[in-house]
Amino acid sequence: MIPNQWYPILRTDDIKRDAPTGVRRMGEELVLWRDLDGNLVCQSARCPHKGANLADGRLVGNSVACPYHGFRFGTDGACRLVPALGAEGRVPASLRVDTYEVREKYDLVWLWWGDKRAHLPEIELPHELAEHPRPYETITFSRPVHYTRYIESLLEFYHVTFVHRDHWANIIDYTFMYGSWRKLWLDGRERYIAANKIVNHRVDVEGTIIRNTFDQCEEGNPSNTWHFNLLYQAPCMTHVKQGLLEVTTWLVPIDEHHTQAIMRLYEYPLLRMMVPVKPLRPLILRLSLMMEQYVQDQQDNDIMARQEPKVSERGVNKFIAVDEMNAKYLQMRDRLKAEARAESEARAAAEAREAERPPEPVGVDADDPVAAPATGGNGTNGAGNGTANGNGNGAKRARKGARAGGLSKTAP
Ligand code: FES
Ligand SMILES: [Fe+2]
Repeated sequence: MIPNQWYPILRTDDIKRDAPTGVRRMGEELVLWRDLDGNLVCQSARCPHKGANLADGRLVGNSVACPYHGFRFGTDGACRLVPALGAEGRVPASLRVDTYEVREKYDLVWLWWGDKRAHLPEIELPHELAEHPRPYETITFSRPVHYTRYIESLLEFYHVTFVHRDHWANIIDYTFMYGSWRKLWLDGRERYIAANKIVNHRVDVEGTIIRNTFDQCEEGNPSNTWHFNLLYQAPCMTHVKQGLLEVTTWLVPIDEHHTQAIMRLYEYPLLRMMVPVKPLRPLILRLSLMMEQYVQDQQDNDIMARQEPKVSERGVNKFIAVDEMNAKYLQMRDRLKAEARAESEARAAAEAREAERPPEPVGVDADDPVAAPATGGNGTNGAGNGTANGNGNGAKRARKGARAGGLSKTAP
């Protein structure tokens, strides 16, 4: 997993209105819920008391209550109430859950997986998507494969000829991508299989985006040529544009063995012509996505589930020239992981230097900062939730503790 990135973890619509929502992402059990003002809260779902899952609990005012013994945790992660100790009972400070940064944008919930920071980067889609908004439908489902193999599979399309050839549902592909209405029932499959050569292949890298354009064609028959634009944006977005069709898929790590696919299909001009009744179009998009989920994507996953090694990385594949986008993806993944590691080390070193700095002479500042308690990061929670007390060095130590926790960890 690439640290210091925004990952879409759910659709905004997946957040339940009056109950906590549980998901597993980045190897962590998470609970999401809205406070009374509608702000989204994301926390570790493991109750620190005896490990029950808070997503099985309920919402009580501005807190989530554990399903087991009813301990209530506030938006900052601190335990607010232990019913067994009574309303006036003293709640141990160590009873708290980690709280993570989340945002809502593009109808998705985004989780910041990385170092705690005062200023997080903006969540931005590539201009191809951001500048051309259009109606879409989005589905989501999980698969038992590593995200690297999944991303790879969507960064090339010459497997289509072989993986997606033997199911009636792929008639859609014959029709829109490789064949024609005229030939559909006669030699659709032959024509489909024929377009298996990649030409005019070009890959460009811009920051954390990789673009690939190419033509998939039938050798000796230039009339059977299909132009593709593929796009990858770190850490986990793929986008394919072929003719009128455009699909964005985010492949989000659930853990080291599972991936959540969030797949978005956009309304296309032909659909507007074919289905003049506007309210019906989302239904068609959704049916198309479901067919993708249960047929084509399942066909891909049947292959991926038996790929070895399970995790793709540099050195484990023998790429050919037209795998350039796959190769660049693996290079970028390594680069971003190395950059994240270097950033974390630099930050830790700066904080260590700060912690060793001698205190200000007593009397200069009446509010002696050295005496200020560093309660934000006591090593037991590291929530980084803004509860650090004091100022000056004390506050800095608190922030240090806060940054050291949360989802900040060494990438596998
Ligand atoms: S396990 Fe959560 S309150 Fe006991
Ligand atoms: Fe495929």
